Amino acid sequence: MRVGILGAGNWGTTFALLAHRAGHDVVLWEYDAEQAARVAASRENVKFLPGYRIPESILVTTDVTLIRDVDVMVLAVPAQTCRQVLHGLGSVRPGTILLSLVKGIEQKSLDCMSRICKQELSPFDPEVFAVLSGPTIAPEVASGLPTSATVASTNAVAAKEVQAAFSAPHFRLYSSDDVVGVEFAGALKNVIALAAGMCDGMKLGFNAKGALVTRGLTELIRLGETLGGKRQTFTGLSGLGDLVTTCSSPQSRNRVVGERIGRGETLDQVLAGMVMVAEGVWTARAARDLAQKHQVSVPITDAVCDVLFEQKSPREALSELMQRALKAED
Ligand SMILES: NC(=O)c1ccc[n+]([C@@H]2O[C@H](COP(=O)([O-])OP(=O)(O)OC[C@H]3O[C@@H](n4cnc5c(N)ncnc54)[C@H](O)[C@@H]3O)[C@@H](O)[C@H]2O)c1
Repeated sequence: MRVGILGAGNWGTTFALLAHRAGHDVVLWEYDAEQAARVAASRENVKFLPGYRIPESILVTTDVTLIRDVDVMVLAVPAQTCRQVLHGLGSVRPGTILLSLVKGIEQKSLDCMSRICKQELSPFDPEVFAVLSGPTIAPEVASGLPTSATVASTNAVAAKEVQAAFSAPHFRLYSSDDVVGVEFAGALKNVIALAAGMCDGMKLGFNAKGALVTRGLTELIRLGETLGGKRQTFTGLSGLGDLVTTCSSPQSRNRVVGERIGRGETLDQVLAGMVMVAEGVWTARAARDLAQKHQVSVPITDAVCDVLFEQKSPREALSELMQRALKAED
């Protein structure tokens, strides 16, 4: 297969290595010309995935037209930039599978990538769209450590094609038909990861973490089902699986952002020094807006937004969360 990857960041570059090892022809697109030239010349992505050699046969380019004529086009740019990238692409060869790796919600539209693809690409056939999500921290996958993830498409044939094309002995893919569920699970768990990081930063202990992951999952299910996802998706790899990883891994960027805020830094201070995207920060607002629009209770997401955007201290947000009116476990 010919695989074109839009985005040569941490995950896009890792996915390029995965696709190359699976025997596919790979084109890796990066929007920043200087960065693309550095990667192409040194055969290493020092900025986003240091320490991994990029084989000569992976074409690194800034020419987006080289991505149009592929069998699988992979979306691996931050959620807030996807619309602009797809708009620049304009059209895609009919039959090309569009595979989103993105875990985020666009702030202004409150849409996930399947809807953005529909709006920006013409013609667009939803039957060629698939999303891959799960506990897939990029450096672990790049170094060959084992994991599993979910590939969802409303078209079972497309889901199975992606599953077969990218599964590897250390990368086991399961298929699903729940595109909406997998997209929202991947995005919403990043918000809970920020809260988990705040727990770590405030040294609240393992009981607090266990309680947070459990109540965070309840929030994912409550909002995710309202938005059209299936409950079993949120308790699966793209939901609970990813939630456990991202709330505990030292390499989870969203958790690390939360941890630094929990230790007393402001969001601006943390973001100022970051090279890679922490999707949860932008998705938190979108998740809160979606919950308000659909009248769904998401107290952890609300607390995260209060800390990130309303200058509430993590301790105050925690105290308010713990002292809400008592209720039955749902
Ligand atoms: N890193 C992971 O472990 C991981 C795992 C699974 C999913 N994801 C998801 O994959 C997506 C990409 O994440 P990442 O970790 O590769 O991000 P990253 O920050 O490492 O890289 C982002 C890439 O997008 C490019 N970019 C930045 N601004 C852009 C713009 N305006 N237009 C076009 N390109 C732009 C950067 O140059 C870079 O190539 C996110 O939605 C993330 O949640 C990441």
